[in-house]
Amino acid sequence: MNQLNVAVIGTGWCGGIRAVACAQHPICGDLHIAESNPERLAEMAAETNAVSATDDWESLIGRSDIDVVMISATPETLHYPMAKAALEAGKHVLLEKPIALRLEEADELIEIAEEKNVKFTVGYSQRFNAKQALAKRSLVNGDLGEPSSILVSRHIGRNLGAKIGNRIKLSPAAMEATHDIDFAMWCLEPRRPVRVYSQNSFGVRREMGLPDSQITVITMDDGVVVTINAGMSLPNHYKNAATTWIEVIGTKGSIIADDSHRDIVVNTTERGIEFPLSTMPGEAVDQMYAGPMERETISFLEAVLYDRPAMVDPRLARMTMEVYMAADLSADLNEPIELPLSADQMGLALAASVK
Ligand SMILES: NC(=O)c1ccc[n+]([C@@H]2O[C@H](COP(=O)([O-])OP(=O)(O)OC[C@H]3O[C@@H](n4cnc5c(N)ncnc54)[C@H](O)[C@@H]3O)[C@@H](O)[C@H]2O)c1
Repeated sequence: MNQLNVAVIGTGWCGGIRAVACAQHPICGDLHIAESNPERLAEMAAETNAVSATDDWESLIGRSDIDVVMISATPETLHYPMAKAALEAGKHVLLEKPIALRLEEADELIEIAEEKNVKFTVGYSQRFNAKQALAKRSLVNGDLGEPSSILVSRHIGRNLGAKIGNRIKLSPAAMEATHDIDFAMWCLEPRRPVRVYSQNSFGVRREMGLPDSQITVITMDDGVVVTINAGMSLPNHYKNAATTWIEVIGTKGSIIADDSHRDIVVNTTERGIEFPLSTMPGEAVDQMYAGPMERETISFLEAVLYDRPAMVDPRLARMTMEVYMAADLSADLNEPIELPLSADQMGLALAASVK
């Protein structure tokens, strides 16, 4: 076999990128798509020349000729049931973050993937951001010595914040900082987080019942400290989809990465000043793709075809989830939370996470 047949479920923004990436790459044989919005289904079917295009995702899971399922549907309550059905059917699965809403669900998905001996990964696309990959490499190869702290501050615009906040009431930690927690946990492997303290700040999103920013401090088992600021309320006039600042400090060196996407400015009479190419998944620019999601998508197909480890181990995604749930509980109780979470704390954290 030198090709894989792929199904993409939910071909909105991210699923659309993944479906196009598959359609354009020779590693993908037949492409199938499932999408509940009829206009979007027709648009993506035409753009990808999909072998089948349906509003019934379960019919794709039931097909024996499909090897890989990519799940990009929203709202996020769909992630667990769709991934469970796909894994149980023996498909290799790439699931967008968040892996699930409950830690028990994440555990179950990981167990099913192990039982079925299939690849299961979570879409932490920023692993394919070259600046973040460089930070990881510089820690692994010893360039930076022993790490002492990591800081990531990321802000997205309030339009995108509202798109997310209007479909599900998950915190900035769960929906945005999750990428940066994943980055820090990945950089710091095999250390484990032992304590989390988090605070919310409220502004324009208060009326949605959600914070504008969430600031989280994570202490690792050897004392390394990680600080993550996740904001979702930059004014829409600042046309920069995501703006990020990263500091990784070690005993022998440091990396300061400006990922604020201010290195290209487009100024038009119609739309004013814009900072293009600044979305987290990236976008196609004619013959090339600028950003991480296309490479991430094909990398998963390569992992399946050549039996390589997928970039994101779902157990690390589960650890990241425990951290952001602890962050939500901490912000709710106004106190630091020790990890691992107890069963009682998991229930309280869920209530604090999903408003
Ligand atoms: N890695 C990243 O950089 C990144 C960026 C944005 C979003 N995300 C994650 O990706 C996921 C998708 O986000 P998005 O912005 O693409 O969302 P989106 O709302 O643009 O797309 C989701 C699509 O799923 C479709 N859908 C809903 N129910 C369906 C069903 N039952 N069957 C088939 N299709 C169905 C919707 O019609 C919609 O087109 C989210 O969970 C989000 O957390 C990841």
